Amino acid sequence: MLHEWLKDSKHTVIFTGAGMSTESGLPDFRSTNRGIWRKKDPSKIASLDALNHHLEDFIAFYRERVLGVKEFGPHKGHQILAEWEKKGLIQSIITQNVDGFHQAAGSKNVHELHGTLQELHCQTCGKTYDSSAYLKEDYHCSCGGVLRPSIVLFGEMLPEDAFSAAYEHAKQADLFVVLGSSLSVTPANQFPEIAKQHGAKLVIVNQEKTPLDDYADLIVFDRKIGAYLEEVNKLL
Ligand code: APR
Repeated sequence: MLHEWLKDSKHTVIFTGAGMSTESGLPDFRSTNRGIWRKKDPSKIASLDALNHHLEDFIAFYRERVLGVKEFGPHKGHQILAEWEKKGLIQSIITQNVDGFHQAAGSKNVHELHGTLQELHCQTCGKTYDSSAYLKEDYHCSCGGVLRPSIVLFGEMLPEDAFSAAYEHAKQADLFVVLGSSLSVTPANQFPEIAKQHGAKLVIVNQEKTPLDDYADLIVFDRKIGAYLEEVNKLL
């Protein structure tokens, strides 16, 4: 099924969430009993308010997450997506993930809706640093300002360029494949709907139910993303 659709499709877009990186070793956010937000309240730790009023807790939380994206890396599934891009089978990846694993696996056309944990920038002067500065417990810019991850915090707008590129791709897609997202966060979860409204086939590969399952032309819930992508890859 999906291998045929991939071959027939003119404009295939892959949309990934945290479930794409759990097989790399990173936790996701809402998986029953193991997602990060099952134990922590995002509004208290991953928000502008936390950055401005609870800096110690904020930095401790993001230092932990920076450790993860530096310690782990792309898995076979990320590599397969990069191969499919090289073969012209997919045209772009829209990701909610901030781990940079798609680019590390060789994918070129990647739109990071929620920014990247691979980079920090100064709250005061905007200067950017590699996020390994957090591992060296170096939280301040040469100007004295506080360094924060270059990600979208709850309460912040999405980066305009990533958002408009994702919108264009969702409109042009004739095949839109969701990999590992609960599709519970706006505005990111609008892109599968936009694709569907513009005539795309919608595929959702996710171990748990999502609010868009009823719109999907194909749902794969009984296999992990890595295994499923390997299976499809073998049929191409
Ligand atoms: N294979 C298939 N599905 C998986 C796998 C896997 N190996 N691992 C996890 N999943 C599924 C989970 O069942 C879950 O439904 O992936 C989904 C991940 O959903 P979330 O944890 O909500 O992650 P995501 O949808 O990316 O969250 C969106 O929320 O906190 C914000 O900014 C953060 O980008 C994030 C956004």
